[in-house]
Amino acid sequence: MSLLELDGVKVHFPIKRGVLFDRTVGHVYAVDGVSLKVEAGQTYGLVGESGCGKTTLGRSVLRLVDITEGSVVLDGTDLAKLPGEELRRFRRRLQMVFQDPLGSLNPRQNIESILSEGMVAHGIGKNQEERREKIKSILDKVGLPSNALSRYPHEFSGGQRQRIGIARALVLEPDVIICDEPVSALDVSVQAQVINLLDELQEELGLTYVVIAHDLAVVRHISDTIGVMYLGSLVEEAPSDALYAEPKHPYTKALMSAVPVPDPEVEDKRERILLTGDLPSPANPPSGCRFHTRCPWAQAQRCSTERPELRDVGGGHRVACHFAEEIAAGTVKRTAGEVVSATREGVEDAPVSEELAAAKVPEQAGPPEQESTKAEAVGTAAKVEKADKAVEAAEQAEKLVKAEKPDEPAEQDVEPAEQDVEPADKAT
Ligand SMILES: Nc1ncnc2c1ncn2[C@@H]1O[C@H](COP(=O)(O)OP(=O)(O)OP(=O)(O)O)[C@@H](O)[C@H]1O
Ligand code: SF4
Ligand SMILES: [Mg+2]
Repeated sequence: MSLLELDGVKVHFPIKRGVLFDRTVGHVYAVDGVSLKVEAGQTYGLVGESGCGKTTLGRSVLRLVDITEGSVVLDGTDLAKLPGEELRRFRRRLQMVFQDPLGSLNPRQNIESILSEGMVAHGIGKNQEERREKIKSILDKVGLPSNALSRYPHEFSGGQRQRIGIARALVLEPDVIICDEPVSALDVSVQAQVINLLDELQEELGLTYVVIAHDLAVVRHISDTIGVMYLGSLVEEAPSDALYAEPKHPYTKALMSAVPVPDPEVEDKRERILLTGDLPSPANPPSGCRFHTRCPWAQAQRCSTERPELRDVGGGHRVACHFAEEIAAGTVKRTAGEVVSATREGVEDAPVSEELAAAKVPEQAGPPEQESTKAEAVGTAAKVEKADKAVEAAEQAEKLVKAEKPDEPAEQDVEPAEQDVEPADKAT
């Protein structure tokens, strides 16, 4: 049995209308039937474009959202069947690291207070002294000095804050850590450092990860298995090497074609498959194969009427496409979609970094984890999206902390910080 098993998980959010009476007029099919297994000590990378349901799936595992249908089983225990208090205690074994490190850390609490909170709630450490010692050793593991204890989140750089987020998860000695876009808010050089840190911690502590990203290059080297999501479902799942060697689903092929290759000769010959059309709304998903409205290989029959199952096509490679074998053999040809040469210029705006596309990136010399100067150049849209993510991360972190607290508030011997620190929004 795998450490974490999801079976047919669906999360449908009702869409309400009406002033006096809340009528349900439809649903957002955010997660629509996901089954996957995560083995102990391994990393499952979950990728897909914005809005495909990655975060909702992660939150459903932690039971931060209600599951409409399906089950989440951790180490043989079905979380849906656990009564409130037991679920709270069980939750210690599942932790989350959020995308926006600043948004998910309370600016009014110092690091000791932030890291002690969950430990107190779960009865870890006999007293604050014992907890402090443990926190110090974890801070050391994540590469932060022990004098970080008395400092506040705004005093750290983006990468350091993410290390604090990782430490907050680690102090609770979890079995599984769900990392939701753990590096997408960070500068490229810092991204590599944080990914390498996660990798080292896994080796040392035997951790199991689910790493969520919209960027295939981020999950490539850290993942044992990768699952690709499209509109609430998995469309392909395979061991990492197999997925990169031969993506079989048309959507994965298109995603993969956007990943720059470090070898300039190969890069110059690389072709990019440009998908046409926007991601359909998860409130009104297309019939049949959900990808058929954008699929360059879509066939007149079956694709728009019959929803393909995620099926094993050999070697642990699972694909949800009626024509996976025929596309691989070249007997089913492309019917739409533009293929362009990915010149070096053409990939400037590709959603991945070359540093991460390369194997384990050496950590950069120079001052560690400086704030991004590139970030200053991002457009308004990106800033708005980032702000939205910060709010989302803060809400999730708050919900997680609340969920971890017992009904009776535990006696805390960490004084809340007296200092009233302004939320540090100067980080970008
Ligand atoms: N609480 C909610 N109520 C209604 N709809 C929701 C809720 N949470 C998420 N959604 C919708 O569910 C869909 C999936 O959202 P989710 O945040 O899981 O996507 P994602 O893959 O994590 O995207 P991103 O890469 O932008 O973080 C989106 O259409 C989103 O608007
Ligand atoms: S089932 Fe049809 S539309 Fe869906 S991915 Fe395969 S070829 Fe494309
Ligand atoms: Mg998300």
